[in-house]
Amino acid sequence: MALPVVVDAEYLKDVDKARRDLRALIANRNCAPLMLRLAWHDAGTYDAKTKTGGPNGSIRNEEEYSHGSNNGLKKAIDFCEEVKAKHPKITYADLYQLGGVVAVEVTGGPTVDFVPGRKDSKVSPKEGRLPDAKLGFSHLRDIFYRMGLNDRDIVALSGGHTLGRAHPERSGFDGPWTEDPLKFDNSYFVELLRDDYAALLKLPTDKALLEDPEFRRYVELYAKDEDAFFRDYAESHKKLSELGFVPS
Ligand code: HEM
Repeated sequence: MALPVVVDAEYLKDVDKARRDLRALIANRNCAPLMLRLAWHDAGTYDAKTKTGGPNGSIRNEEEYSHGSNNGLKKAIDFCEEVKAKHPKITYADLYQLGGVVAVEVTGGPTVDFVPGRKDSKVSPKEGRLPDAKLGFSHLRDIFYRMGLNDRDIVALSGGHTLGRAHPERSGFDGPWTEDPLKFDNSYFVELLRDDYAALLKLPTDKALLEDPEFRRYVELYAKDEDAFFRDYAESHKKLSELGFVPS
């Protein structure tokens, strides 16, 4: 069993300092998208039935970061190690989730509430818990429902692709989803509905959001109402970052 994390005044002070260090690190290395992807891939392995996986820092284990779906993330793990060295009390689990929250914030996205106290785990789930970009909407539901998330979470969180790009050597896909991949806004949804623009990336799982009427409803809402997107995104991101976590 992992030891409980004591979130006392000192821990909270460290979290505050780590938040500042992460802001500087993300600015220096220009790595907001990669930090968000790291947070998501640590959390997105959660299985609500067995209460395994989730935001527990296990992605730092070689066994897990060498899963094909985590290609490229070792770089972000190493960046976080610099912050961990300065604030060793903070768990990896908290650090990675804080990195995701800061990445959204510094690129102009909504403020996502961050509650510290996640425990670290050395146990990694088997490969195959994260979504496969080549599949469709029923696969998305299988994966996100397994985590305990719902349709609105699926669409709101897919808006994370407003940041960053795909790299052929990592995923086999290529290019950004939006014109400005370092700005967190609702352009992912605007572009998704503009199917005339071939220069930007649309994964099969992105297109799947248009094919299912329940998903499409949210795509259309978020494309025309950025405030609605930011409100729902902040809520869904918090849920993702706290899967299986009971704050003390
Ligand atoms: C990148 C798939 C959901 C955030 C990627 C890439 C793929 C992918 C294939 C390209 C990786 C590369 O080549 O570097 C998926 C699928 C999802 C999903 C199938 C299912 C819905 C999410 C969620 C978030 C997210 C929920 C965050 C809230 C990102 C970010 C990048 C990325 C920020 C860019 C990373 C970079 O620029 O290095 N995703 N993703 N994704 N994903 Fe997702």
